[in-house]
Amino acid sequence: MLLTDIGALAVVAPGPHRGGAMRHVRMLPDAALLMRAGKIAWYGPRGDAPSAERQEQMSAGGGLVTPALIDCHTHIPFAGDRAGEFVRRAAGESYLAIMQSGGGICVTTTAVRAAEEDALVRENLPRLARMLAGGVTTVECKSGYGLSLDDERKQLRAIRTMRGLQAVELVPTYMGAHAVPAEFDGHADAFLDSICSDAALRQIATEGLAEFCDIFCDRGAFDVDQARRVLRRAAAAGLRLKLHADELAAIGASALAGELGAVSADHLEHLDDSGLAAMRAAGTVAVVLPGTSFFLGIPHADARRMITEGLAVALATDCNPGSCMIESLPLVMNVACCQLRMTPEEVLTACTANAAAAIGRQDRLGAIAVGHDADLLIVDARSLAHWFYRVGCSAVRAVLKRGRVVYAR
Ligand code: NIG
Ligand code: FE
Repeated sequence: MLLTDIGALAVVAPGPHRGGAMRHVRMLPDAALLMRAGKIAWYGPRGDAPSAERQEQMSAGGGLVTPALIDCHTHIPFAGDRAGEFVRRAAGESYLAIMQSGGGICVTTTAVRAAEEDALVRENLPRLARMLAGGVTTVECKSGYGLSLDDERKQLRAIRTMRGLQAVELVPTYMGAHAVPAEFDGHADAFLDSICSDAALRQIATEGLAEFCDIFCDRGAFDVDQARRVLRRAAAAGLRLKLHADELAAIGASALAGELGAVSADHLEHLDDSGLAAMRAAGTVAVVLPGTSFFLGIPHADARRMITEGLAVALATDCNPGSCMIESLPLVMNVACCQLRMTPEEVLTACTANAAAAIGRQDRLGAIAVGHDADLLIVDARSLAHWFYRVGCSAVRAVLKRGRVVYAR
């Protein structure tokens, strides 16, 4: 199929793009793009398009065409909601205070444990559909609310089931060490023993239930030595590594990410110099989650400094029922422009090529390049600036996954 009448094609090269290179998005006016077997086969000036005979054509109507968006950090699938905590925060209580008084992750754990696998699927499919309508065709999904091997596997199986039921590509991450469940209260190391047992990790890896292992390494969660122990075992079982790092305090989590060659370190509101240097040396992608700061009313991560210092920055929603009930990656992109002072080009790179790198798919996703998957957006905007400038309303007109229209407004 030939996609023609492209007003402007935003050519993002395959990532990751570090530092100043994040701005290198080439805008090709009056373009066309040829797709074959779900891949990009050619793109260029419309006048140079391969002969149109025998080709199916689709008009972009003069719109902007970009790589489809990738949400590289979510806590989908979850059950229930924590709207009550939202109201308590509005009345002045902090996320930490609510957690210490019995709210927080454990509330969602109770709901997830009570839910059957198919209920988890039913509750989360509409979420993925709304994400798709916003232009997202790939979503990283974490377990981490089951907190027992069986309940974690139930969450991971729900991800696998949802894969077959809708168009969004799902990337599963095992996050068994998200919090200490009530039955192990005061016995974090015994809980981690159960996670690190060969049976547990091997079962998850050999069943193909997860590609990545993530852990909450922070003040009030797991410390660096505990995280190192879990992540080493996970790597030995064949999982690639991610960390929730430096969200509440700098305790060395980002340095550990570098030390272990983690694919990404995420949050980074309190990233320090040694963590930054370690991540840069290891090529660890910095996943920044401005929706969480926005939702909780806490300071943002310093994405500008990360870019100046040469990191590859990605952006994601962190969609979860507690700290960030935001499904809209485009809203997060708006916030990144307005509050993090990222340029529209940097923001697009962060949600395409660099997000692909954060989930180990940079060879296939997140770029306009021959041989890459034809995951594309048609946007009602003249430029990236005109897209991100209009906050809170969707400009996405159509979404293609592997060359097929999977959403049209
Ligand atoms: O990424 N930081 C740790 N975990 C989640 C919050 C999970 C929850 O509150 O349910 C996060 O923000
Ligand atoms: Fe998170």
